[in-house]
Amino acid sequence: MKVYKERFAQQLHTVFSDLSIEEILQLIEKPKIEAHGDLAFPCFQLAKTYRKAPQLIAQEAAERLADAAFEKIEANGPYINAFINRKEAYQTVLNEVLEKREAFGAHDFGKGKTIVYDLSSPNIAKPFSMGHLRSTVIGNAIANISEKCGYDTVRINYIGDWGTQFGKLIAAYKKWGDEAAVRKEPIRTLFKLYTRFHEEAEKDPALNDEGRLWFKKLESGDAEARELWQWFRDVSIEAFNEIYDLLNVSFDSMNGEAFYNDKMDAVVRELEEKGLLTESDGALVVRLDEDDLPPCLIKKKDGATLYATRDLASALYRKRTYDFDEALYVVGHEQSLHFTQIKKVLKKMGYDWADHIEHVPFGMILQGGKKMSTRKGKVVLLEEVLREIIALAEKNILEKNPSLPNKEEVAKQVGVGAVIYHDLKHYRMNDVEFSFDDMLRFEGNTGPYLQYTHARAHSILRKAGRTVSEVNGGLEDDGSWAVVSAIAAFPDDVKNAFIDRDPSQIAKSIFRIAQSFNQYYAHERILDSDDVDLKLALVEAVTIVIKEGLRLLGIEAPKEM
Ligand code: ARG
Repeated sequence: MKVYKERFAQQLHTVFSDLSIEEILQLIEKPKIEAHGDLAFPCFQLAKTYRKAPQLIAQEAAERLADAAFEKIEANGPYINAFINRKEAYQTVLNEVLEKREAFGAHDFGKGKTIVYDLSSPNIAKPFSMGHLRSTVIGNAIANISEKCGYDTVRINYIGDWGTQFGKLIAAYKKWGDEAAVRKEPIRTLFKLYTRFHEEAEKDPALNDEGRLWFKKLESGDAEARELWQWFRDVSIEAFNEIYDLLNVSFDSMNGEAFYNDKMDAVVRELEEKGLLTESDGALVVRLDEDDLPPCLIKKKDGATLYATRDLASALYRKRTYDFDEALYVVGHEQSLHFTQIKKVLKKMGYDWADHIEHVPFGMILQGGKKMSTRKGKVVLLEEVLREIIALAEKNILEKNPSLPNKEEVAKQVGVGAVIYHDLKHYRMNDVEFSFDDMLRFEGNTGPYLQYTHARAHSILRKAGRTVSEVNGGLEDDGSWAVVSAIAAFPDDVKNAFIDRDPSQIAKSIFRIAQSFNQYYAHERILDSDDVDLKLALVEAVTIVIKEGLRLLGIEAPKEM
């Protein structure tokens, strides 16, 4: 309830003028006990300045405070408590939602600024992993949230399509490959080839030289190497696109690591000119001793470039191309050292904008408490997992609402929504346990629960056969107040979710709305009551804000399910 917090702070400032509004805002808290009102200001720290007991300060000040937004402002021991005028708040908050609709909760502090997101970034010829799923949904949600705060965004899918492993893959394909199998099941087949290469190279290390040779050929533009690589890339991206279609995620750029192949010489030269390169065992590195970091590897003994070289080239390219204000890399926490090194090297090169590069890390997805792995032989493909959960969602819908017209579409929205919400409801650094059952529950804190609440609110509006565009007056019972105050918190929750790069704050925000609304609905008559207009406004506001919150998370909200 930001507006109210500010109004309370302004009031307090009239009596405590030596504290700034900012300082007062810092001190205002939410009382733990409901009977103590909606906002509280503790007077302890004023005792010194005023040379009075905090109780007395609170009492004297409370007598001088009054504002129409508050029903009463009173002292309670060392605290000044403010009770929001619920009727007024009901009207103000709901009218704002009904007027702004999906723009409710938007901010403009990002206007004119650009954030570049590095997200998803799977590796070609390999299964799309759970880690890449997390990067995709977390990155997409944070990007949505930043757009809501006014920022321009660029979503870059930095495909892992370059590196020695592709030399190995080409070598493996030349030895054991089968064109028809690659066409039929590209990711599985290519991944098997790659795994086989590693197994055989253990027995026959000379294979590794063959792999390196093919990568050299690839780097220098050899036609055959190039053609195979292009093919592997195309079929991989096609498979990834199926997943992105299901997830409803799109990108502004798919420039992956290979895109920087011809831009790395310039980086190496610049590092050289700036005197930052040192030789170490025949390789070229940037030493980062003074930062207590291991050296950043730039070029291998055989001249091949590395992951870090490409990330330096891509950072420079992105700064030139997008002139970003911030660049966020949504990548698992196991790459923290890598990004710390990249930032340090850029700083050493004299680029102060490196301070605006930020690694946004996240935890792992676990199964049975352990890291999910692509166990040898048995590859679980994400697309299959998604299709399976969509099928489960469809079964669920068939049981609950067999007459629903567009079952398939809704099943997709519910299944995919369940997966995304399951990921985003926790703070991103936490590990997430992967469980179909948990995801698909219609009760508790799940995606389907929120979608269901949204659909249920819509069904009330459908039954009413009308909506109201504005309310005059308001309600003040505890049930409706719980809903209104949850809605009123949404704009602040959006802002904080952006600042903390934390979509779970949006999830919590709309979950609170859904929960209080369901409680309200269980105890109140809506359509056949005296205050039907006031209540319809509340119901519609609930549909608007839940839908918008879900949209920020990348989840759709069907009107019926
Ligand atoms: N493809 C990499 C991986 O799967 C992630 C890339 C992250 N982005 C970056 N700019 N390094 O590990």
